[in-house]
Amino acid sequence: MENKDPTQQSTWTSVDTYATQSLLQTHPYASALASATTLAKQANLPGIEASPLQGAFLSTQCQLANAKHILEIGTLGGYSAIWMASSGPDVHVTTIEVDPTHAEIARRAIDAAGLAERVEVLLGAGKDVLPGLRREVEKGERSRFDFVFIDADKQNNLLYLREAVAMCRPRAGVVVDNVVRRGALASEEAAKNDSRVEGARQVVEAAGREGMLRGCSLLQTVGGKGYDGFLIGVVGDWSG
Ligand code: DHB
Ligand code: MG
Repeated sequence: MENKDPTQQSTWTSVDTYATQSLLQTHPYASALASATTLAKQANLPGIEASPLQGAFLSTQCQLANAKHILEIGTLGGYSAIWMASSGPDVHVTTIEVDPTHAEIARRAIDAAGLAERVEVLLGAGKDVLPGLRREVEKGERSRFDFVFIDADKQNNLLYLREAVAMCRPRAGVVVDNVVRRGALASEEAAKNDSRVEGARQVVEAAGREGMLRGCSLLQTVGGKGYDGFLIGVVGDWSG
């Protein structure tokens, strides 16, 4: 059927701005989050961090999961890590970043937010850092994670999901960013030309097929950051 929906990007952006102003201005970390954005801009980091409402979505998911130990893959300037750490006073975030400049900016933003004690930035590629973390979890030297946000190089989405799930408690929450990619997700052709789309399709198809998640959905998003979406799931099987 022809899509007669007249909404445009300008509509989504207006709603995004309105909702951000209505909902987030009184957030206790509002000024720390604004400073993190400014710091990242000044350092010329790519402007691909979560939007304020997406950060707030992550924070609400962390609260719903009663998450105390959170894993993030892809720190960038620390913006989403600050959002997730702000979900409670006893919340710890472990976040992995491959780019030393990004990690340095993130540490500064996290420090300025007063969260240095609760947010650990690990420098390195996910594929190198995750196995070490997993060994610590398996030896009982590190707590299992209650929530995971995957937002790094899209080509490795599935590797990151598998590694993360192995370190989670049952019923932990998992969110993978940027899987819709302006709708390219549904195109086999787009995947042939863009390895990030291929990475999105791999993780979505495996999430449905491999049984590592009980309950899984895909949330398409629009707003100031355009048209994209989250894969969102709950760790475990249907036995309990
Ligand atoms: C891209 C990566 C992101 O994490 C994001 O939120 C938006 C875009 C990208 O690599 O294109
Ligand atoms: Mg992202």
